[in-house]
Amino acid sequence: MMGTMSLGSSIVISKKGAVTLLSNDKNYYPPCLSKKNANCLMNCQSEGNVIKTNGVSVSVSSSFTKRSVLVNADPGTALLDTGRSVLPPNGSVYNGAQSGIGIVNILKGKAFFVTGATGFLGKVFIEKILRTVPDVGKIYLLIKAKDMDSAMERLNNEIINTELFKSLQQAYGKSYQSFMLSKLIPVIGNVCESNLGLDEDTADVIAKDVDIIVNSAANTTFDERYDVALDINTRGPSRLMSFAKKCKKLNLFLQISTAYVNGQRQGRIMERPFNAGDSIARESLIYEDQELISIPNLNVEDEIKLVLESKKSLGENAASQKLKELGLERANLYGWQDTYVFTKAMGEMMIDKMRGDIPVVIIRPSVIESTYKEPFPGWMEGNRMMDPIVLYYGKGQLSGFLVDPNGVLDVVPADMVVNATMAAMAKHVTCGKTEENYIYQIASSAVNPLVFKDLARLLYEHFNSSPCLDLKGRPVHVPIMQLYRSMEDFSAHLWKDAINRSGLNNSGGINKGKYSHKLENICRKSVEQAKYLANIYEPYTFYGGRFDNSNTQKLMGMMSEEEKRTFGFDVGKIDWRDYISNIHIPGLRRHVMKGRGMCTQN
Ligand SMILES: NC(=O)c1ccc[n+]([C@@H]2O[C@H](COP(=O)([O-])OP(=O)(O)OC[C@H]3O[C@@H](n4cnc5c(N)ncnc54)[C@H](OP(=O)(O)O)[C@@H]3O)[C@@H](O)[C@H]2O)c1
Repeated sequence: MMGTMSLGSSIVISKKGAVTLLSNDKNYYPPCLSKKNANCLMNCQSEGNVIKTNGVSVSVSSSFTKRSVLVNADPGTALLDTGRSVLPPNGSVYNGAQSGIGIVNILKGKAFFVTGATGFLGKVFIEKILRTVPDVGKIYLLIKAKDMDSAMERLNNEIINTELFKSLQQAYGKSYQSFMLSKLIPVIGNVCESNLGLDEDTADVIAKDVDIIVNSAANTTFDERYDVALDINTRGPSRLMSFAKKCKKLNLFLQISTAYVNGQRQGRIMERPFNAGDSIARESLIYEDQELISIPNLNVEDEIKLVLESKKSLGENAASQKLKELGLERANLYGWQDTYVFTKAMGEMMIDKMRGDIPVVIIRPSVIESTYKEPFPGWMEGNRMMDPIVLYYGKGQLSGFLVDPNGVLDVVPADMVVNATMAAMAKHVTCGKTEENYIYQIASSAVNPLVFKDLARLLYEHFNSSPCLDLKGRPVHVPIMQLYRSMEDFSAHLWKDAINRSGLNNSGGINKGKYSHKLENICRKSVEQAKYLANIYEPYTFYGGRFDNSNTQKLMGMMSEEEKRTFGFDVGKIDWRDYISNIHIPGLRRHVMKGRGMCTQN
């Protein structure tokens, strides 16, 4: 996370609200430096820049080279260039013409306040908007940090200087840093603190300037402590909505939620908003025509009180485990599978309750995995959701899993989520609160289901044609993954497998007892680990719902052909074989394993 400050300049709003420009770039002269001139600084650099890159292969085209000379010669001049053409990674010229939704033209000049920008999805969003809408306004990034230097360090190390941004780095050449730092403004804050942890002056600057708020900050741990998850995922959006009410020219509040806020709903699940008090458990009982008395009404404020009281009554030592259990217990009581999705659903409820006249969009992606195309295929961060299982399997450490073979894993590539987000954003910025359909499920299970048994076959084929290597450099040949419907069968499989792999069944000799005991402990640990994963994932590997995406499809229908090429999110067209074998797993090996794990293909 930490590192050295890189070359370049940035507008920085300190905790005390002073606006300063940090610069290590001798050629860069800021037009205005003082807090008094902050607005001038914010406006005068927002004119259009021309980016031309072919993205995927990231070689620089001749037309770009010409432009890059201009850009490199003087970042200031480049920033005043009013050119509009963007050559996206797929190579086709996109001129942002006013057809379709008009995404580029609508987002041009808009100022953003973004939370969660250091996260997996947040970065893909920041990259895409800067690449396709270079004359976007300021993008204020709420970053957890102890001081401004640390915030800048995080911005540089976790966003600006990362591989994900290499298309932009190549496009802007030497003026890359100054371009990035003229747009991205780190502000210290925390969605768990009152007024988002912003100092008054900073809050004022943002409140005056911002057009669109994007809340991507979240705690995504399925079995997090209830107090922690509630604070970030439920109270976070409500604190942000309170802040939104102070924003003078806000056009949109966009919440990144999850399709799994639908909890234990079954069948085709529509893009419906939550109302305060909704609970999946009561809803299910209504459908089954049963007594509702046993299930209390869900009241978010009561949940917050319950957590506060529980924390008071629990000793520090017991608190952590008990609060994890409490989250799961409350989630299950009301019809959600875990604390994460329950607290995210309550986040949506808070937004709905508080929004008043503020236009809102709620984006509900299913499981987000590596990028499909842009800025290059296979970019991924973190070992998440299905990936630990994929990697254990590829390395020969797990040969079965607890899953419904005919069930569906609902996956969407990160760049498609971002494209849909930008399209929805542009649409709703113009139509305001009048638009009723503001929930977008970005999901594949209804239109292009990836069935678990097919996934298992794809993994088998992939790891046998490009095997991982063991410690001695020999290829690891994996068997087809066994899929178990019951924990009992899965557990038996795990024991058998662990015993075979550890050699426990052959451990004879003088120290037999001691040695066997040690091996047995190792086996037990690996079995427990696999069972833990299986338990956490069970609600997802046996999920009984399919996410309808009618609003998302309609949104796609509003886009021009040009927009579909640049901001496409047609999950129905994903070829899963190609995506899993040629994009996602190679991406995992390269960006998550970073060559570790002794794979033949990195
Ligand atoms: N990943 C998925 O498969 C998936 C699927 C559906 C929906 N989503 C939703 O998509 C959004 C982004 O997810 P992601 O995968 O990008 O998550 P992620 O990689 O875990 O990133 C979470 C982001 O939230 C920030 N954050 C956490 N607590 C915060 C706090 N108290 N104050 C301010 N910022 C805070 C983190 O900042 P730090 O870097 O400082 O920790 C980080 O930038 C989330 O809302 C999530 O619910 C994700």
